[in-house]
Amino acid sequence: MYVDSESELTRLTYFRGRVALYNILKALGVGRGDDVALSAYTCVAVPEALLALEAQPVWVDLKPDGLTMDPDHAESVITSRTRAVIVQHTFGVPADMDRLMALAGRRGIPLIEDCCHTLRSTYKGRVVGSLGTASFYSFEWGKPIVAGMGGSAVTADEGLRQKLSRQNAVLQEPPLVRDLKIEIEYLGYRLIFRPALYWIAKQFKNLLDRFGVIEPSYNSPSRGAPSTDFLFRMAPLSRRRLERVRSDIQRVADHSTLIAGQYRERICTSYVAHPAIDPGSNVVFGRYPLTSRHKEAIMRLARKAMVEVAGWYSSPIHPLTQQQWRSVGYTRGCCPNAERRACEVLTLPTHAKVTQWDVDRTVEFLNCLQL
Ligand SMILES: Cc1ncc(COP(=O)(O)O)c(C=O)c1O
Repeated sequence: MYVDSESELTRLTYFRGRVALYNILKALGVGRGDDVALSAYTCVAVPEALLALEAQPVWVDLKPDGLTMDPDHAESVITSRTRAVIVQHTFGVPADMDRLMALAGRRGIPLIEDCCHTLRSTYKGRVVGSLGTASFYSFEWGKPIVAGMGGSAVTADEGLRQKLSRQNAVLQEPPLVRDLKIEIEYLGYRLIFRPALYWIAKQFKNLLDRFGVIEPSYNSPSRGAPSTDFLFRMAPLSRRRLERVRSDIQRVADHSTLIAGQYRERICTSYVAHPAIDPGSNVVFGRYPLTSRHKEAIMRLARKAMVEVAGWYSSPIHPLTQQQWRSVGYTRGCCPNAERRACEVLTLPTHAKVTQWDVDRTVEFLNCLQL
């Protein structure tokens, strides 16, 4: 079921992951004035989908020692006005689904799984994305499966699927110029995106973004004035690629497991801590998260050494600055664990382009750190 059968991923496709989420919420009847709970320590694209529907984000903190939603905090902020809860399996680490599903069940609200960071992690033997009412995925640069740009929605609820299909049928094809921008970005991804060139590729991508040559990764979310992204289905060339690469999912997951296993075994510096993993979960890491009090210093040195160490998420709502948090209804201090994680989490790549040479360099870089 779900992404165990890869054809599910190409059934309901959208311009981006956030557009898939928007459509799931819309099909569930979420609209103006409704509260939707979601975890802090996420990408701004997630609240953007809510604001496009004029719904109100209700921020839930992370577990005190983890990367996923805190069920106790969720319990305290979900009220009778809450119409849905979005649970993110951050970097592939499954959220505490037993407690969150029980909570959603008690409150009679749908639980939507954000599977943008993983396609194959399992929670108590079940693949993530198959536990809630619906799940959504993203296929842009930086995600486990890269098809160019796009997203998909998956659900086992036949009624919901029919609604999603009807909504999907009236979406427009993106204009050619936007397809072209996606192709330019995908070409850049194919040619220069690899761990040793990470910092150069990032700078190059930012430059192309600034000059409008590629699609921006982030929009400025605003209530009731959605970006045109929400009008479109997945760009045709990206969709065709997704059809081709979906059969690679297991291979990509096995590769990620191998790489993450090496990081876990071989990185032994006291400057960083490895992620805690629940014994009931089998984690396929979209990125491998380390925690450190020296995040900024390590990032600076990694940049000099040309080693891929990323800082996302650098904010509880990445990449918004503190001054911008209010635009998505986030008040400073409402999710202290998420704010702390943003200051201390570094992530290492586990994607398909990571080679043994890259792993050796990364391990050596970290184990030889002198701060
Ligand atoms: C956790 C998470 N959810 C959703 C999204 C949105 O995906 P997209 O950029 O395809 O809209 C992202 C994007 O980076 C993400 O990191």
